[in-house]
Amino acid sequence: MKMLENLKYMTLTWGCQMNERDTEIIQSMLEDMGMKEVASINEADLIVLVTCCVREKAENKVYAKLGELSKIKRDRLDLVIAVGGCMMQQKGVGEKIQKRFPEVDIIFGTHNIDRLPELLNRAFLEKERVLEIWEKDKGIPEEKDFYKKRKDFLKSKVIISYGCNNFCSYCIVPFVRGRERSRKPKDIINEIKYLAENGCVEVMLLGQNVNSYGKDLGEEIDFSDLLKKVVEIDGMERIRFMTSHPKDFSEKLIRTIADYDKICNHIHLPVQAGSNKVLRSMNRGYTREEYLSLVSKIKSSIPGVSITTDIIVGFPGETREDFEQTLDVVKEAEFDNAYMFIYSPRKGTAAAEKFKDDVSLEEKKERLQELMELQNKISLKINKELVGRNFIVLIDSEEEKEGKKIYAGRTETNKIVNIQEDDLSRKLYGTFQNVEIISAQTWSLSGKIVRH
Ligand code: 5AD
Ligand code: SF4
Repeated sequence: MKMLENLKYMTLTWGCQMNERDTEIIQSMLEDMGMKEVASINEADLIVLVTCCVREKAENKVYAKLGELSKIKRDRLDLVIAVGGCMMQQKGVGEKIQKRFPEVDIIFGTHNIDRLPELLNRAFLEKERVLEIWEKDKGIPEEKDFYKKRKDFLKSKVIISYGCNNFCSYCIVPFVRGRERSRKPKDIINEIKYLAENGCVEVMLLGQNVNSYGKDLGEEIDFSDLLKKVVEIDGMERIRFMTSHPKDFSEKLIRTIADYDKICNHIHLPVQAGSNKVLRSMNRGYTREEYLSLVSKIKSSIPGVSITTDIIVGFPGETREDFEQTLDVVKEAEFDNAYMFIYSPRKGTAAAEKFKDDVSLEEKKERLQELMELQNKISLKINKELVGRNFIVLIDSEEEKEGKKIYAGRTETNKIVNIQEDDLSRKLYGTFQNVEIISAQTWSLSGKIVRH
């Protein structure tokens, strides 16, 4: 009989970087139990799903995967299936999955991931089907040293705050991830020091709204102060962060980013829509004019900064004129890149309860297409302007193909740069290289390493 600690596991993750970080924590716990990761479903004894519910599309993918895994399990009865993540935090979803997929052994939420080893014990040893979801966390389990294992030590993610207090009317996040809870600066700093000591040179500070970091701590600290503490850490060369909410983006933060070289000149600043009417019904807390003036302040204070954004099309009540205002904002702000989505109502959110989803799917798709075409043109134009210039690139991928070395990495502004070299003897993974941009595409650049 298989022992729990000898199981081979695999994780499947949907959604944002927060879920990716949660997955690392889950992996860390499973490895502490003695388990080993495998790369295919066929080899795995345990499969852990970390789900997302931010849009309907993400949920549909999870249901499809559960159907597939259930079928596999009918031929492999000892396969253990555990499902966690944001989807499970929605009312009734855990119970629904338990009913619809009797093959699922464990259902857990986002607030009790540290309980997974215990739940696994119950499911595995006592052959119980387990459902345990908490509505809130019981404090952040800092004592558990979750940060020790990382998928990627070179570029690591560090959560600085959980949850969100903004209640944008379309968004499920405050319901499934709860109210905003900031981690204590000392815990964050200790984690980043540990990472730096283990070869990490780039850290991504994660929160749903990093700009409101610290407001709940009762300490005199804000996000800029935290950034300045991270800058002090030896060996941490690049500091990134996401996501920034436009309404909380202070002058002090702009100055901090401008003043410190280690803080990357890239800001992800979701605009969501361009019409004041839609922004108001989304409960975003700013107007298009305020947003555009923030963008121009950022651009003039931080030379070379790149700004990316999120945009939703087809929000309830969005007319053609409203949508055209979104197009106008995109033209004026000149984003480096944008993540663009079709609105989908999320049960329990204000928009789903109050407004009729009245833009047809056909119209939504057309608007998305039009928006993407515009943004792609702008992305390409901005990238083309970079040709001939030099940038420092952190090489994070290296492979050999057809007698050539193929490297890829990112600039400080988060642009992907692909590099080809004939010299097969050099190992550049994890190094910073001075790279001249030789050509530009919509989503990436090509470059060559400049040698002195
Ligand atoms: N429908 C479509 N897009 C959404 N987002 C969040 N909720 C929804 C929804 N109900 C988008 C927002 C957010 C990004 C992470 O996902 O643009 O910034
Ligand atoms: Fe959702 Fe708005 Fe919070 Fe972002 S800021 S997680 S969109 S509620």
